[in-house]
Amino acid sequence: MSEPIRFYYQGAVREVSTASPTQTVLQHLREELHCTGTKEGCAEGDCGACTVVIGSLDNGQLQMKAVNSCIQLVPTLDGKALFTVEDMQLPDGTLHPVQQAMVECHGSQCGFCTPGFVMSLWGMYLKQEGARPTRCQVNDALSGNLCRCTGYRPIIDAAMRMGELPTVSFDRGALTRQLASLRREKMATYSVAGQQFHAPRRIDELVKLRAENPSALLLAGSTDVGLWVTKQMRDLGDIIYLGHVDELKTVVDTAGMIEIGAGVTLEEAYKALCRHYPEELSEMWQRFASLPIRNAGTLGGNVANGSPIGDSMPWLIAVGAQLVLRGPAGERVMPLEDFYLGYQQKDLQAGEFVQALRVPVPRDGVRLRTYKLAKRFDQDISAVCAAFAFTFDGDVVTDARIAFGGMAATPQRATAAEGAVRGQRWTEATVSAAMAAMAQDYKPLSDMRASGEYRMKAAQNLLKRYWFETRQDAPLASNEVNAFAVRA
Ligand SMILES: Cc1cc2nc3c(=O)[nH]c(=O)nc-3n(C[C@H](O)[C@H](O)[C@H](O)COP(=O)(O)OP(=O)(O)OC[C@H]3O[C@@H](n4cnc5c(N)ncnc54)[C@H](O)[C@@H]3O)c2cc1C
Ligand code: FES
Ligand code: FES
Repeated sequence: MSEPIRFYYQGAVREVSTASPTQTVLQHLREELHCTGTKEGCAEGDCGACTVVIGSLDNGQLQMKAVNSCIQLVPTLDGKALFTVEDMQLPDGTLHPVQQAMVECHGSQCGFCTPGFVMSLWGMYLKQEGARPTRCQVNDALSGNLCRCTGYRPIIDAAMRMGELPTVSFDRGALTRQLASLRREKMATYSVAGQQFHAPRRIDELVKLRAENPSALLLAGSTDVGLWVTKQMRDLGDIIYLGHVDELKTVVDTAGMIEIGAGVTLEEAYKALCRHYPEELSEMWQRFASLPIRNAGTLGGNVANGSPIGDSMPWLIAVGAQLVLRGPAGERVMPLEDFYLGYQQKDLQAGEFVQALRVPVPRDGVRLRTYKLAKRFDQDISAVCAAFAFTFDGDVVTDARIAFGGMAATPQRATAAEGAVRGQRWTEATVSAAMAAMAQDYKPLSDMRASGEYRMKAAQNLLKRYWFETRQDAPLASNEVNAFAVRA
C-alpha cells in the first residue's frame, strides 16, 4: 500500500500522494506549490540558485542544512521540514537579518542567485546562532553559490553585517516536536504509477528489503543520483532510500579506528575524520564540492559510486581503510581497494549494500598527505587526486602506500612507485626513481578536465611535493599551513 509523503512546510504538514517519486524538490516547489522564489540555474548542484534549508531529526537530533533542491527527490522529504526564501520574512513583515544585510550591503543585482545566497546564509546564521562569522566560515557557507553580477564582495559584506543586526532566534524546540510527530516507526513505501520508493527505518528492514529487491536503486544523499534524473533523464526504477536508517548515520570512535556509517553526510564524516587528521584532511574537507553538497551527500555514497575521480577513495586507500558490506549472509569486510574491480564495477554482491567504513587513526611514523588538483578551489571535481601515506624510521621509508584518483579507471594504488621507495632512504634520488616508476603504474586518459600527459606529469610532481614536505629537513608543510588558514 502506498503511503503519502508528509513534510512540514510553511507552518503546516503537507501531504503528497501523486508526485512522481523522481520529481525534484525544486520542481515540486515551483510547479506544484507555485512558490517560485527558489530558482533553477544548472539543475546539477553547481550554482546554488535552488538552495533551500531542510530540517530533519537524525538519531533524535534536529539538523538544519542548506541543500540543493534541484537534485533532491520529493519522497526524501518525508518526515522533514522544508524552508525556502519565502519563509524568511518575519510575521510582522520585517526582513530577516540575512535579507536586511543583503539590502544594506547591495548584495543583489539581477537577483537570480539571491534566494540561494539568502538560504545558504540562513543555514550559516542558524549554525552561528546569529553570531558574527569569520571570513573563512562565510567562504565555506557560500562555496556552493554562484553569482554572475555582484563580484561577491557585497554578499560577503552582508554575511558579516547580518551578525551585527538584532538577532532573530529560531524555535528549534517547536520544530523538533513537529518533526517527532511526523516520525514513522516502520518502513513506508510510496508508490506512483508502479514505481516504488521504499524508505526503511531500521537496518534489519533494509537487509530484508535489499535481499527481496536486489535490483532496486539504493539512494543516499542523491548528489550523484539526482543528476541521473535531471541531466540523463534516466528511469531509476524502484528505489530504496537509505536516509531514514539512523543506524547508518553513526560515527563510532574506538581504539585505533573510526567507524563511519554509510549514511553519515560528507560534512559530518570529514568533521569527525579531521579530529584525527586535522592537518592532513582539512583542505580535502573544504575543497570537497560545496557545503550544500556535503550536507546532503554521504561518504558511503562517494565510496559506493566509486568514481575514478572521487576524492575520498585515494586517501582512504592510502591509510588502509576497510569497507564493511552488509547483506543477507551478514557482514563482509574488505580493504577498500579490493572493492573496485574495473570501471564502474564493484565487488558488491546481490542483496548487499555498504554499511560502514573503518578508518585507522593516525599511527606513529606514518605521514599522510592528500592533494587535489582542480580548476577551482571548491565546487570542482578533481583532475588528479593524490594521497601518500609513508611510514618512516628516521629517513628510511619502511612502508609506502600511494593512491590516486583520475589516473586509471578506478581509484588505484601506485605499486611500482611504492616498490621504488620501500626500504630506501628518503632522498631526492629515491623520489626521482619513484617518479619514473609511476609511469608503469598508470596510463591516464585525456578528457575535458586534463590531458593524460598533464595527469602523469602532475602525479609525478605531487610525489615530489610530498618529498619536499616530508624530508627530514622540510620546513612547515604546506598542508599544515593550509589547515591553519582554513580552520583558524
Ligand atoms: C556539484 C557537485 C559537486 C561534487 N563535487 C565532488 C567532489 O568534489 N568530490 C567528489 O568526490 N565527489 C563530488 N561530487 C559527487 C558526489 O557528491 C559524491 O560522490 C557523493 O559522495 C555521493 O554520495 P550520495 O550520498 O549523494 O550518493 P547517491 O547519489 O545517493 O548515490 C551514489 C551511488 O552510490 C550508491 N549508494 C549510495 N549509498 C550506498 C550504500 N550505502 N550502499 C551501496 N550503494 C550505495 C547509489 O546506488 C548510487 O549508485 C559532486 C557532486 C555534485 C553534484
Ligand atoms: S539549480 Fe544550480 S544548484 Fe540547483
Ligand atoms: S545578482 Fe545577478 S546572478 Fe547574482
